[in-house]
Amino acid sequence: MHRCCGRKSEINIQGMKYCKEHFLAHCLEKAGKVVRKARGKKLLVALSGGKDSMAALSLLLKLRDEFHLKVSGVYIDLGMKAVADAREIIESFCKKEGVELVVINMRNETGFTIDELACKKLKRPVCSSCGLIKRYILNKFAVEHGADFLVTGHNTDDEVTFIMLNLTAQNLEQLSRGGPITLTKPDMKLVGRLKVVYYLTEAETRAYCEIMGIKYHDAKCPYTTGASQKRMKYYVNMIDKEFSNFKNGVLKSFRELLPALESFNSGDAVKHCTACGYPTTSGVCSYCRIIKHGKEN
Ligand code: FES
Ligand code: ZN
Repeated sequence: MHRCCGRKSEINIQGMKYCKEHFLAHCLEKAGKVVRKARGKKLLVALSGGKDSMAALSLLLKLRDEFHLKVSGVYIDLGMKAVADAREIIESFCKKEGVELVVINMRNETGFTIDELACKKLKRPVCSSCGLIKRYILNKFAVEHGADFLVTGHNTDDEVTFIMLNLTAQNLEQLSRGGPITLTKPDMKLVGRLKVVYYLTEAETRAYCEIMGIKYHDAKCPYTTGASQKRMKYYVNMIDKEFSNFKNGVLKSFRELLPALESFNSGDAVKHCTACGYPTTSGVCSYCRIIKHGKEN
């Protein structure tokens, strides 16, 4: 039984018990904490077909009227056999909910798909090139379409893992880019990020999709190598089991520390790529270099 309403507790996440109604209210409250900072804004949701971005879109649709949001979606078709069902899942959800969706075909943008890129000799792991290519294409598309924020599906587990990895590596510049919201820098052609499910754990976004009957794909990327990220996430979950409130405690402390980290994120080192004009810290940006290398090899 749920202790406030007496209804049957259908959801039990790490000791927290909810009835369906209270769980949905909990998710909306957590998403609202982020979304209230984007009142009246034009939001572009980066959809992968996974549970986190699908949950983010669904929650935004429920909060749309209250916060006067304009919501649309974008999906990059990477040409990966392993996630071939993602496109259909996203298209049918957006059609059902009346959400405008743009599908970007990676081959049209870069000249190759991820499966083709994986067959080439690369200087960095495929999955890391893929992440970089996706971030670049999404940012460019968001800038060109005048979006105020790009919505990503980063959840609490992702953020705590990011914090722990960057603390360990003493990478304070990277750490200063964390947080639920980053602002748009029009002079740098950099669109802001809004992490709508920042305060929800992976278990909660999964439960949300299941309760709402939202289809998502759960296939693992076949090229993923992010060993340190995967291991850190595993340990984060282990610690959270031993020390209740570990993840929330880290998030809360990090948010308090963020203003003090601002000096590490001055953007002084950021220039415009000499080939495409988008931000880079060197002459030609990594995206332009990967594309050139991919076409030549
Ligand atoms: Fe794209 Fe791994 S190759 S997510
Ligand atoms: Zn470039």
